Amino acid sequence: MRTYNLAIIHGDGIGPEVNEQALKALHAAAERFDFGLETTKYPLGAQNYLDTGVLVDAETLERIRRHDAILFGAMGDPRVSPGILERGLILRMRREFHQQVNLRPVRLYPGVPTPIRDLSPGRCDFVVVRENTEGLYVGEGSTVHKGTKNAVALQESVNTLPAIADVVDYSFRLAQQRRRKLTLCHKKNILVHAGELWQTVVDEYSAKYPDVEVDYIHVDAMCQHMPMSPERFDVIVTDNLFGDIISDLGATIQGGLGVAASANLNLDGQAPSMFEPVHGSAPDIAGRGWANPAAAVLSAALCLAALGQGEAALSLERAVASILAELPELAGPGMGASTEELGDQIAERIAQGHDGNDTSHGRSIMTAMASV
Ligand code: NAD
Ligand code: IPM
Ligand code: MN
Repeated sequence: MRTYNLAIIHGDGIGPEVNEQALKALHAAAERFDFGLETTKYPLGAQNYLDTGVLVDAETLERIRRHDAILFGAMGDPRVSPGILERGLILRMRREFHQQVNLRPVRLYPGVPTPIRDLSPGRCDFVVVRENTEGLYVGEGSTVHKGTKNAVALQESVNTLPAIADVVDYSFRLAQQRRRKLTLCHKKNILVHAGELWQTVVDEYSAKYPDVEVDYIHVDAMCQHMPMSPERFDVIVTDNLFGDIISDLGATIQGGLGVAASANLNLDGQAPSMFEPVHGSAPDIAGRGWANPAAAVLSAALCLAALGQGEAALSLERAVASILAELPELAGPGMGASTEELGDQIAERIAQGHDGNDTSHGRSIMTAMASV
């Protein structure tokens, strides 16, 4: 029996609330699909930082590195200045563990309320593949004449060919496992240096994957196409900041941040991948039991898919889909059940093999991902 050794980082705000439900789902799947699960909790986040003055030490990072995967809740706390936890913990782990690909699926589950109501569910099923370690996120820059009326802030974007090539190659391989369409999303009409490099790499890899159709869309136009004609997308590959922004739009399309999952994938096998909801710590609703755990459980499903447990991953996805279809509202007091109750119901459905109806019109990302 294969046993997976997971690092659990609950983090801040609703992070612990939703991540506990993801853990319940994983344990239910382990029981049903006959694999072992060992978990180690790492109490990183705002409270730990406020108590110790340290974000994370090198030894803890090395211990986390030895796990098969990381299940992450969320980070961010109003008591800590913006950027400290986000850059010092989330971005640090994405970089240190060389998680170059941030995969963010967008799929409309049957019966789920969405602002794009006039579309049939099967027509919205695409994946945003976001470069996860570079671009404007490198944090390089400076401010001159700070505090004066002539202040100038410089924020640099770093785009290296090796990182782009890895992400583009992964995107082509993922498209091959899906509907064989890849769309580059950038702003190459304005960001000519970075845009040209991205386009050059896509053109080069396009010749290697002639069975995949290639398209290009500027990021501003993307914000219209994604909600109005999602059926034209299969795999969207994009840079770090554009990917951050359009994946929240993708979350809105599929019913809100409460259902949007993500995977930070390490491609070289030298460090663990990390699975986390697209949403943050949601301080506005933390502690109330109103957070939707779907995004966290679907992130755990992506974790199982990446570990090669495709059937178990599908069972989590189907259990979540069946619960979502029954919720009167997707978040807040109108959800009809608390975060914890929903987690219990999801785990129960996984355990009982109640897989609901799979009404997806194509191959689930869980299956496609396991084959890349
Ligand atoms: P957020 O995603 O935390 O919340 C945005 C809105 O969505 C809020 O109204 C929130 O209540 C709602 N929401 C989010 N998740 C939900 C869920 N599961 N169920 C129901 N409603 C949900 O974004 P924000 O408010 O911009 O940021 C809050 C903090 O989180 C900040 O410190 C930010 O830097 C951080 N953040 C962290 C991550 C991460 O850990 N990966 C991601 C985004 C933001
Ligand atoms: C996300 C978040 C993070 C990002 C922040 C909190 C570092 O918004 O995971 O989408 O910008 O990548
Ligand atoms: Mn974001």
